[in-house]
Amino acid sequence: SECVSLSPMMEAVPAPPESERVCVFGTGDLGRSLGLRLLQAGYGVVFGSRRPHSRSSLLPHGAQVLGHAAAAQSAHLIFIAVQREHYDFLVPLANQLKGKVLVDLSNNLRKNQYPEANAEYLQSLVPGAEVVKGFNTLSAWSLQNGPSDANRQVYICGESVEAKQAVIAVATKLGFSALDQGFLSVARELEDFPLQLFPQWRLPLRISIGLSAAFFFYLLIRYVIYAYVTQGEDISFRIMVSLANQVCPIVSLIMLSLCYLPGVLASFLQLYRGTKYRRFPNWLDRWMLCRKQLGLLSLGFAFLHVLYTLIIPIRSIRENRTTMFDTTTAWHDDSYLSLGILGFGLYVLLGITSLPSVINALSWREFSFVQSKLGHLTLLLCTAHTYLYGWNRFLSSSTYKWYTPPGYMLCLVLPSVVLLLKLLLITPCVDRTITRIRQGWERGADQ
Ligand code: HEM
Repeated sequence: SECVSLSPMMEAVPAPPESERVCVFGTGDLGRSLGLRLLQAGYGVVFGSRRPHSRSSLLPHGAQVLGHAAAAQSAHLIFIAVQREHYDFLVPLANQLKGKVLVDLSNNLRKNQYPEANAEYLQSLVPGAEVVKGFNTLSAWSLQNGPSDANRQVYICGESVEAKQAVIAVATKLGFSALDQGFLSVARELEDFPLQLFPQWRLPLRISIGLSAAFFFYLLIRYVIYAYVTQGEDISFRIMVSLANQVCPIVSLIMLSLCYLPGVLASFLQLYRGTKYRRFPNWLDRWMLCRKQLGLLSLGFAFLHVLYTLIIPIRSIRENRTTMFDTTTAWHDDSYLSLGILGFGLYVLLGITSLPSVINALSWREFSFVQSKLGHLTLLLCTAHTYLYGWNRFLSSSTYKWYTPPGYMLCLVLPSVVLLLKLLLITPCVDRTITRIRQGWERGADQ
């Protein structure tokens, strides 16, 4: 295991000075992984244990194991990787812990499990020490693997600036970037972090499920039930591919426009207010914050549409359908297909540039060029693909079965509105005003 491969290296290194020594209380998965990372970063590690003489073979080589009191005395910084229920053992150590920095790593199983945050409880048990909450968003697994792009950040909070600085120094040396979130009262929030299950995905997921269900039933009635009622024909098998291949692109196009609508609305709000210095309403803020998830989900639906579309030619052969070739139809088909393909190509590019590792490699200007300019172009291409697909059916009355418009017409409303609003925003005179507002100009301020 890692421990064995580490040992020869550790023996060659001389014992680190007092200041480079840290103590870890807790020999569970988290404590051991943290100890290993600390050793790899060059720290001397002392584990505090109830039974220091029966050393567990799982503890990383090179770490020292002492009784709780001796361990606490040996270092200034002590990581508490112990569950809250067992914090009591720290009370008799009050003398040894005086002035020490205690890092509370703990998490709970659910929200509001206890009246106060674990870190605040720890502080109340050992008032003489400086408690810092932190590292609790990391798992033993991510500690062992080392920081990657996605989990570089650790959050800390605490009352003492010096104590926080000591913790930040260790975090930095381990390769993490620590973000100071403020006083210990924030600990509760930090302890809730790991309990959240895809918080930014929740709303976009609900929207996509709601839209899918609504369009599924709408199209089921218009397509399958209509055929059965009016012609007595059973085409229920079409649910599997044809219906799915309508629901997916429809939901995709609507979600893509939902991704660009809040930005357009925000611009109009700034234009209307004549300043950028007022907060957006909360709903708009929340909406803007889930644009990435909306976009990625809509990419998923577009991807399904493309996969389903691959089946169409296979099926045409099976059903032995032959149509008369005519150049106009061929032009029409090829044009809408080409627009769809171009749109999908850009769609994928947008998806790729929303990955954290790609974002990190782009400047702000490059990122906003891709996400805004190319994003709106994607919306334009996909919308044009759909308009062109509808082509001359918009005006024929047979399109409106039971007086209802087909799904693709309904799904064109939102993207058309977004594109029209965007078109207004990029007209030179509006664009000039928006740019001035974004640069800090305020209407009425210069008179
Ligand atoms: C419809 C092809 C990408 C939105 C269609 C149809 C085809 C097609 C063949 C007609 C389906 C049928 O007859 O049942 C393609 C190809 C694409 C592509 C080859 C790219 C490789 C996209 C993208 C979007 C999109 C990125 C944007 C969300 C739509 C919509 C419809 C449609 C809304 C109408 C669905 C309906 O109600 O029948 N596409 N498409 N397509 N496509 Fe695409």
